[in-house]
Amino acid sequence: MTEPRPEPQPLLAPLTSSAIFLVATIEPGGERTVRDLLSEVPGLARAVGFRAPESRLSCVVGVGSDAWDRLFAGPRPAELHPLEERVGRVHRAPSTPGDLLFHIRGQRMDMCFELAGRLAGRLANAAAVVDEVHGFKYFDNRDLLGFVDGTENPVGSPAYRAVVIDETLDPGADAAFAGGSYVVVQKYLHDLTAWNALPTEAQERAVGRTKLADVELDDDVKPADSHVALNTVEDEAGNELQILRMNMPFGSVERGEYGTYFIGYCKTPSVIERMLDNMFLGDPPGTHDRLLDFSTAVTGSLYFVPSQDFLDDPPPAPGAADTTEPVPETASEPASEARAEPDAADAHAGSLRIGSLKRSTTR
Ligand code: HEM
Repeated sequence: MTEPRPEPQPLLAPLTSSAIFLVATIEPGGERTVRDLLSEVPGLARAVGFRAPESRLSCVVGVGSDAWDRLFAGPRPAELHPLEERVGRVHRAPSTPGDLLFHIRGQRMDMCFELAGRLAGRLANAAAVVDEVHGFKYFDNRDLLGFVDGTENPVGSPAYRAVVIDETLDPGADAAFAGGSYVVVQKYLHDLTAWNALPTEAQERAVGRTKLADVELDDDVKPADSHVALNTVEDEAGNELQILRMNMPFGSVERGEYGTYFIGYCKTPSVIERMLDNMFLGDPPGTHDRLLDFSTAVTGSLYFVPSQDFLDDPPPAPGAADTTEPVPETASEPASEARAEPDAADAHAGSLRIGSLKRSTTR
């Protein structure tokens, strides 16, 4: 009998009307608590979401390159690395800190917020949330520039093929991390005053699609520096390379902030990185994405998104003996005390506590 495929995290969940993006960095010594939490994320999302199934609450968690080696012994995802900064002639894409990414989605912001609060509560003292963005659906899935965002996303099996590592479909894929994916996030702030001063036709040439009807411009009128032209990439055989985007608008009238939170999943980060090269450095070099003249990237980070199976049964912590059997905690040691005193050096004990904490959430 063939083994079931590793189950991906809910990457392929459809776009929702609300989302919260949390980026966190792990404090020194916080590794054990974070390991415990990672395996509990699916259970927490289920527990919060169960009371309102119509809210379609889901959470995907990604792990950054430096954090990976602090959390897990054994092989690393083959293409996991920190996002490189890109410095174009005119625009720059920064690389900013991020050990963990939580992409929380739902039809109701209260549900997203409840889950975000529980995750942050569990991370207290072990990790610091360094960026939090609350995204909302704006009219018919438009960004704050007024254009429909997400139209050309793959759906169904093309979406799975684009984002999930699966060596049965891609011989040579990273089989040890099957069911996983990569994700890149960037927070962009728009200069809406300058953008709104452009005539609609000029905006359409910047995006490469019409504004009201959301139809792609013909190749003979679509400029080479339009967003769509620079983000249409192919392999050597001429096949289009796709990513799955779940961008959300966000903002604050008080701070005068009007933004797009870009989030792109792909089975290899190289496709997203090629798009970033095209946008910031140009293709051919020098022709940057016209959208960037009105949109500034203020954050940027890259994560590996392990499969659900990996989260359920992670490899040992670095330096820990390879124990697969959870050992019961001693009766005198409450779980909260175990969490309150994270000790990276005591990795052996840390790996054993995962079993017990996981059980406590599923009860
Ligand atoms: C300021 C941030 C961004 C905004 C406002 C934005 C907006 C849009 C819009 C309106 C479209 C056209 C409709 C659609 O197919 O979704 C689009 C397409 C697309 N965008 Fe972006 N985007 C942003 C950043 C990015 C980044 C950083 C990437 C990749 C690294 C990216 C990749 C793509 C791709 C692949 C397409 C589809 C191209 C096609 O096949 O037609 N976008 N984006």
